[in-house]
Amino acid sequence: MSMHWPKLSSDQIKFRVFEALKKNINYREAPIFGLPGTYLDAEVFDNREAFLENAPFLSTFIANPNHIGVHTFGETDPIFKGTQKIEADLIRICAEEILCGSHNEQDGYVSSGGTEANIEAFWIYRNYFLRSYGCHLNQIALLYSEDSHYSIAKAANLLQVKSIVIAVHQETREIHWHDFEKKIQMALAMGIKYFIVNVNLSTTMFGSVDPIDLMTTYLNQNDLIYKLHVDAAFGGFIFPFVSPDSSYSFKNPNITSFSLDAHKMLQTPYGTGIFLIRKEFMQYVCTHEATYVPGKDYTLCGSRSGANAIAIWMVLHKYGSEGWKLKMQALADLTSNFCSQLDQMGIDYFRNPGLNIVAIKAGFISAQLAKKYHLVPNEHSENIQWFKLVMMPHISLDNLSIFLAEWESERQVKC
Ligand SMILES: Cc1ncc(COP(=O)(O)O)c(C=O)c1O
Repeated sequence: MSMHWPKLSSDQIKFRVFEALKKNINYREAPIFGLPGTYLDAEVFDNREAFLENAPFLSTFIANPNHIGVHTFGETDPIFKGTQKIEADLIRICAEEILCGSHNEQDGYVSSGGTEANIEAFWIYRNYFLRSYGCHLNQIALLYSEDSHYSIAKAANLLQVKSIVIAVHQETREIHWHDFEKKIQMALAMGIKYFIVNVNLSTTMFGSVDPIDLMTTYLNQNDLIYKLHVDAAFGGFIFPFVSPDSSYSFKNPNITSFSLDAHKMLQTPYGTGIFLIRKEFMQYVCTHEATYVPGKDYTLCGSRSGANAIAIWMVLHKYGSEGWKLKMQALADLTSNFCSQLDQMGIDYFRNPGLNIVAIKAGFISAQLAKKYHLVPNEHSENIQWFKLVMMPHISLDNLSIFLAEWESERQVKC
């Protein structure tokens, strides 16, 4: 079945969110005596009805529901059950509609961001290997490419598992296949038996996408024991819409989990990462000591704002699946047009057609112009090799042409 979730009018969205808030127990109306939480300080945060009556997100923000725990399974907290149900619905949309998961076969939650979602995944797999195979920590390694986001290295450090970092070809940013095989064989020789594999959809700096099929074919053919997480913090809300039918979905049995970041392409507030995983895996990070939390806690962060879930749900429904596909296709087309102009100008760059990142070779643009347009260098040093441009919705065609004209004249002066 193809992807589908409905587009709703602003009134319908408002109605659904206010209905969910009504199903929550309200700090203003009910005797909630046991929680260390309340609505936002009315001296500071305007809560007048006239200000909030058309503002479902702000209303939720001010009502301040706590979404502690996970809401796709187990016991629900009656106090915030209305908005927690909306969170469960948005997790379903991401897992089943966007990433083609089977009905009711995935769990997940709205995390603080891609970093937390990545750490959550690796935390689960580390505990899964420890518990299911009775192994030692030093037999587990986290395998990822050198272009992976720094949160992966952070996770390896936190979880105290060995990092295996695979080199990439400097021009194409593709995984260096020889290095992939060599590092795995070296790890096996050193006693590593269990692999947590991070695959990028896409990398932060280049928008490059790891060759998941090649990687899993090798892992499967060599009978390696692994669990595979897809870091789709950047690409998760654009790639599946621009490149449908890829191997990056829950239809692929080699994938166990995904991270997505709504606070990138979806234009929601920071604090709207998304963690998705096949059912039965969250149990490996159940904190049984969380006895006061209904349903216990399986997340890294603990308390979190229900308003973040509402923000994601609202954006998804403002567009519907068809509208979102059009929006992402338009962004990808704009990126392709920009790249055609770079081709005409003879500029060297890297771009994956399913994404909206263009990494420009540093020698083709002055540091001053890059700085003026806030292009991001691959490193903040004297040794910059690439500058990246991310085609985001705030970049207008006008600004893009001004930038290109300035760049063109800079190049003519140089010649
Ligand atoms: C691929 C990738 N993974 C993880 C992250 C971390 O996301 P956050 O900053 O939301 O924690 C980013 C952020 O840019 C990213 O691009």
